[in-house]
Amino acid sequence: MQEQLKAIQQEALSKVEEVNDLKELQAIKVAYLGKKGSLTQVLRGMGKLSPEERPVVGEIANQVREAITTAIEEKNTILENAALEKQLQAESIDVTLPGRPVKVGGPHLLTKVIEEIEDLFIGMGYEVREGPEVETDYYNFEALNLPKDHPARDMQDSFYITNELLLRTHTSPVQARTMKEYNGEKGFKMICPGKVYRRDTDDATHSHQFTQIEGLYVDKDVKMSDLKGVLNVFAKRMFGEDRKIRLRPSFFPFTEPSVEMDISCKVCDGHGCNVCKGTGWIEILGAGMVHPNVLEMGGYDPNVYSGFAFGMGPERIAMLKYGVNDIRQFYLNDSRFLKQFHQA
Ligand code: PHE
Repeated sequence: MQEQLKAIQQEALSKVEEVNDLKELQAIKVAYLGKKGSLTQVLRGMGKLSPEERPVVGEIANQVREAITTAIEEKNTILENAALEKQLQAESIDVTLPGRPVKVGGPHLLTKVIEEIEDLFIGMGYEVREGPEVETDYYNFEALNLPKDHPARDMQDSFYITNELLLRTHTSPVQARTMKEYNGEKGFKMICPGKVYRRDTDDATHSHQFTQIEGLYVDKDVKMSDLKGVLNVFAKRMFGEDRKIRLRPSFFPFTEPSVEMDISCKVCDGHGCNVCKGTGWIEILGAGMVHPNVLEMGGYDPNVYSGFAFGMGPERIAMLKYGVNDIRQFYLNDSRFLKQFHQA
């Protein structure tokens, strides 16, 4: 029996020595030390031994079990470490590789200019209003003192959808709608930014779709000098404190008197250059005192209330402020153009 035990030990140890796989090692453990394992089988036969032999053989059996268990445990540690090492190598990442650059976007230049103008007027107590881009003939023209056959309708070549519906040619209908909403009950100040549409042929300074911001202040006792004061603040805040403004007489059907505002040219400081075409002045916007007919159609008594209105194109403001020489740049979405202004 002792011989048998020794043989089992030798056989088991050499198998453990050779094995290179954790599963196989487990199988060896079961084959020798398990309930039906060969060592266990031999030990079952111990009952047949004489009382003198039993403790001797028992001790040897314990030594054999110990030796096999230790060998299996050691091998187990070796194989587990190797497996871990292999996994670490397979999953290793090179932290020194350069990262992939993340492209960061930013607001469109036009959006920035519009928001800058909005902030300026909000600071002066104006509310910001929006209106529909598909507008009725009534709000786009009639309520602004442009009856159906008025020749000044030609100033704004329009995209008609039906006889009564068109793409708005300016944001002034939002002003007419706001007056109607307050309905002569109280004074108000509002600006309305938004998209407008005209049947223009696209070139460096024209686009069939562009943006406008118009403003309207209606109250008792609003004067032309109030308009001049507000426009002066606007021009200086947008283009610099050293800019001068001038108002030239003009014509709009919805204002009387009507003016156009110029600012002194920044490039030549008013002396005349190719940017201002030698005049020293650059046209910025149209404005005027709200026509009594327009106040009346908006529900305001022109004998009690007066008001001023102004309208400008943010594209033009942005072109002058940032030296953009083609209006189409705003709509092409060429990232080489757009990203120049992310920090502006
Ligand atoms: N609505 C005018 C236009 O689009 C601009 C404007 C607004 C002029 C308000 C005067 C007063 O041309």
